[in-house]
Amino acid sequence: MKKVTAPAIIDLKGKRKITAITAYDYSSGQIADAAEVDMILVGDSLGMVVLGYEDTLSVTMEDMLHHTAAVSRGASRALIIGDMPFMSYQPSVSMAVENAGKFLSKTGARAVKLEGGFPFLEHVRAIVSSGVPVQGHIGLTPQHVARFGGFKAQGKTARSAAALVDEALALEAAGCFSIVLEAIPSEVAQEITNRVSIPTIGIGAGPDTDGQILVYHDILGLFDRFVPMFVKKFAQLRGESIGAIKTYCDEVFAGEFPGKENFTNMNADELKIFKT
Ligand code: KIV
Ligand code: NA
Repeated sequence: MKKVTAPAIIDLKGKRKITAITAYDYSSGQIADAAEVDMILVGDSLGMVVLGYEDTLSVTMEDMLHHTAAVSRGASRALIIGDMPFMSYQPSVSMAVENAGKFLSKTGARAVKLEGGFPFLEHVRAIVSSGVPVQGHIGLTPQHVARFGGFKAQGKTARSAAALVDEALALEAAGCFSIVLEAIPSEVAQEITNRVSIPTIGIGAGPDTDGQILVYHDILGLFDRFVPMFVKKFAQLRGESIGAIKTYCDEVFAGEFPGKENFTNMNADELKIFKT
């Protein structure tokens, strides 16, 4: 199957909706790819859903490269995007270029995402110039959780909404191939989508963006610690998983597992020798 590229994602705008999901390892990458999703983001949300941190601030480049490489080994069709973790690009433009490059040279990702925004236009331009497609991310940017005072929707006032539109236009001008819009009113997402010529990918941004993204564990109902309003669980795999593991334990207790089909036997001659 043909590999999805960043230019191919741009071409989809206005033609059909674009689909994206996160994934964090070989098997989730394989499953997402088999479902023929357009983009797989190896999100720094892995800090919360895979590593068990409170937020994404402790996630390192090493964590991201490790998980992105695993996803790449599982997915051969979708565009794989590496999420730049906290402090991997903020300190300097040269650090941003160096770390963005590592996702392509070491993991098989073919784009990166970074949060922001006005403060990082120079970073975006430099990364794109070095050959790495960049996805922007504005609205509720979780690496700003301390500044926001929690995971709160953004752009709810006329003034902050107008700033988001300007920020999206600036990211397009800086060379982004798409922009994630997270937790902003649908009216703001619609206005941005109409004003930029690159695809907008929404999460908690309403129905009018060019595409949607959700976290793997949220779609499948694998993560219960908190469930944002914008999440829809399309399966209940946490409950199903617990049920399956309990059944396994019950069958072990009852001596029903392993069954005949789950082990091998010696042939009669060998067994006779073995027993004497
Ligand atoms: O880390 C992540 O999963 C994300 C998406 C929710 C956009 O940034
Ligand atoms: Na992220």
